[in-house]
Amino acid sequence: MFLPALLLAILWIGHACFWTFWLNNLYGRRLTKRFLKPWRLLTGLVIASGLPLLWWSFEYDPQHGFPVGLWSSLVSFYFALCMLLGAVVFPIVTIIRLRRRPPASLLKEATRTLDLRAELGDHAVGDGYYRRIATLPFNGVFRVDFTDLVLAPPRLPQAWDGLTILLLSDFHFHGTPSRVWFERIFDKIAKEPPPDLVVLAGDFVDSDAHRDWIVPLLGRLKWTECGIAILGNHDEHHEPERVRTELKQAGYRVLSNTMETVAIRGVPCELIGHEGPWFPPGPLLAPDAKTFRLCVSHTPDNFSWGVCNDIDLMLCGHVHGGQIRLPIIGSIFVPSVYSRRYDMGVFGYGNLTMVVGRGLSGKEPIRFRCNPQVIRMTLKRPRPGGVG
Ligand SMILES: [Fe+2]
Repeated sequence: MFLPALLLAILWIGHACFWTFWLNNLYGRRLTKRFLKPWRLLTGLVIASGLPLLWWSFEYDPQHGFPVGLWSSLVSFYFALCMLLGAVVFPIVTIIRLRRRPPASLLKEATRTLDLRAELGDHAVGDGYYRRIATLPFNGVFRVDFTDLVLAPPRLPQAWDGLTILLLSDFHFHGTPSRVWFERIFDKIAKEPPPDLVVLAGDFVDSDAHRDWIVPLLGRLKWTECGIAILGNHDEHHEPERVRTELKQAGYRVLSNTMETVAIRGVPCELIGHEGPWFPPGPLLAPDAKTFRLCVSHTPDNFSWGVCNDIDLMLCGHVHGGQIRLPIIGSIFVPSVYSRRYDMGVFGYGNLTMVVGRGLSGKEPIRFRCNPQVIRMTLKRPRPGGVG
């Protein structure tokens, strides 16, 4: 009894991995909601019921052995694939993910958590469409992590030793969490000395009406050098040009797939915004960087693009850490062509350091072991002879 149950469990894990991978991959692409939403529903149904249906259609009969025919061969092949995914690929990927070490350019990481539901009570909830989900007891949607990172990108100019950057993304203004909840976060940020740069990595609104929140909320943030913003895929559905106008009114430099050379502490820096793949074409850069290149990219899927384009520091959002993170396994649904690979954290290759934040909110206000996140970075010069 135990062995068949174990085999069935492995088979189902492989089956779920197969369909979740393709759901993640498709959600990382520039596809319409009219396709993606039914596909997500179909994926849920197939994961929940597909395996018993396939077994039933397989027509295995202990009296007469395994059936023959094209359909039975296809089902057999699919079962073998699921066994491989469930018994080999999934455990190996899980071990690799658990053992992953951050890049050498990450020197320090520390997080403090603020439970704003405890502090604000029902004032945190607001009037969004899914507000009842937000109040479920396990939901961490109102608990905010304030993460401090110390990074040493290899080509950091001497004058930027100690430069601070505040990274925020994925506001998804639509009513829940409430405006009061966001105000409380920005008040908390305002108690700290202003950073040199404020970077907003997209997904500002999930409703036309909530574009009105952009100026009064994001206009509260202060900086000493410059504030930068780009749009995300959710902004595409709410008159993106009007979102850009609001951001400019709030004082931000909106880098829509463009590059601007800006002096920061007197040193030129190429600031780049990458809104691809949702707002094509992506930015076109000269092959070799003449200065430090700082890129704000909504999705971390542009990591390889960043390596090829000599980017030094790439700041991203979009994937929300997966929003639901299971013990040991981690994230499940991550809208990325790389599936769960860049779901959150710091990644590096060559001269590139990429920081992926979990964002502040989401269209569906549900989070489990994956708090909203505010990231404050301090950049340090690498020590001679090695990073850090
Ligand atoms: Fe988002």
